[in-house]
Amino acid sequence: MAHLRLVNVTKRFGDVTAVNGLNIDIEKGECFSMLGPSGCGKTTTLRMVAGFEDLSDGEIYTGDRLLSSPKKNYYLPPEKRDFGMVFQAFAVWPHMSVYENVAFPLRIRHLGSSEIEKRTRDALASTNLLGAANDSPDSLSGGGKQRVALARALAINPDVMLLDEPLSSLDPHLREEMRFEIKDLQRKYGFSIIYVTHDQAEAMALSDRILVMKLGVVQQIDTPLAVYNSPANKFVFSFIGLSNFLDAEWRDGVPVLRGGMPLPDGLAPDRNMGSFSLASRPSEIDFVSEGEGGSYALEGVVTRKAFLGEIIDYQVNVGGQEVRVQKGRRAPGPDVGSACRLRLLRPFWYAEEEG
Ligand SMILES: Nc1ncnc2c1ncn2[C@@H]1O[C@H](COP(=O)(O)OP(=O)(O)O)[C@@H](O)[C@H]1O
Ligand SMILES: [Mg+2]
Repeated sequence: MAHLRLVNVTKRFGDVTAVNGLNIDIEKGECFSMLGPSGCGKTTTLRMVAGFEDLSDGEIYTGDRLLSSPKKNYYLPPEKRDFGMVFQAFAVWPHMSVYENVAFPLRIRHLGSSEIEKRTRDALASTNLLGAANDSPDSLSGGGKQRVALARALAINPDVMLLDEPLSSLDPHLREEMRFEIKDLQRKYGFSIIYVTHDQAEAMALSDRILVMKLGVVQQIDTPLAVYNSPANKFVFSFIGLSNFLDAEWRDGVPVLRGGMPLPDGLAPDRNMGSFSLASRPSEIDFVSEGEGGSYALEGVVTRKAFLGEIIDYQVNVGGQEVRVQKGRRAPGPDVGSACRLRLLRPFWYAEEEG
């Protein structure tokens, strides 16, 4: 049985449907990410799971225990759900020491004093904060404050951790480091995670599965690799990794790029799609010489070439549209101004209305 189950979960704020018919099963110990642009309903979903927000429709369970159901008029309050929570803002109490920040939720649960001390010390040790136990959280860096919030969530021994963009106020280097720390803590404590982020790299790095959401509606739920390799639609393709989209259409029975350049056979969709996008990843395009690349090659002119350390980033004009190409710096490509042929290694096609 799934550990945490959302059935047709829906939330309306007036005319806005923030979350629309969401169905998710999360396994015990799974790291499940919700990924999508700002305003797509991620925080609202997490708040409904936590119990801070009621549902307009649907039900939420852990195992076979009901947490929320408007139909049954049932709603378990947040403090009885025992979920750990960490939010984007550093929600630490500045007037309490680091130690008290972590111990406080245990005190309001009326645990015995030796149990409180044991759990608090354990959580502080797991987050490398023992040395700062008596300090004010205000004396800590952003990363330190987020560790306090993590320690506080850990101390209640949660089955589920709800993390809402917990690293987005940290600088990129620290963010990467803390991803690994969260994974280590998960291994040690065995909780499930719902991880909310708009950062696709973070979701890819952390998750067993990713849900991609747009305007409250699920677009795809799959492993990071499957979401990357087989995006369900153009939105998912554009949201995960770098992408190129070339506008194209069927004209007089043949597929052409906007501007009229006919598409070679290998780059034509297998049916008349009307107006469509030809999609590709910058890292999945090769420069090929005349005669090479067969029916998967497009002709263009290099308009920009930038060294980004290990990779070289090219912009190529193909019939008036720009295509981005990325190659390792050890495989030098053509110079700015030269004509070139691009072979798309893994083309995708999306009809216009599939958006
Ligand atoms: N309390 C609220 N009252 C009215 N609208 C809200 C409220 N909370 C969220 N919304 C709306 O619901 C949608 C989803 O918001 P949110 O869940 O915060 O998105 P995300 O976390 O993905 O950025 C947005 O359109 C937002 O404006
Ligand atoms: Mg949010």
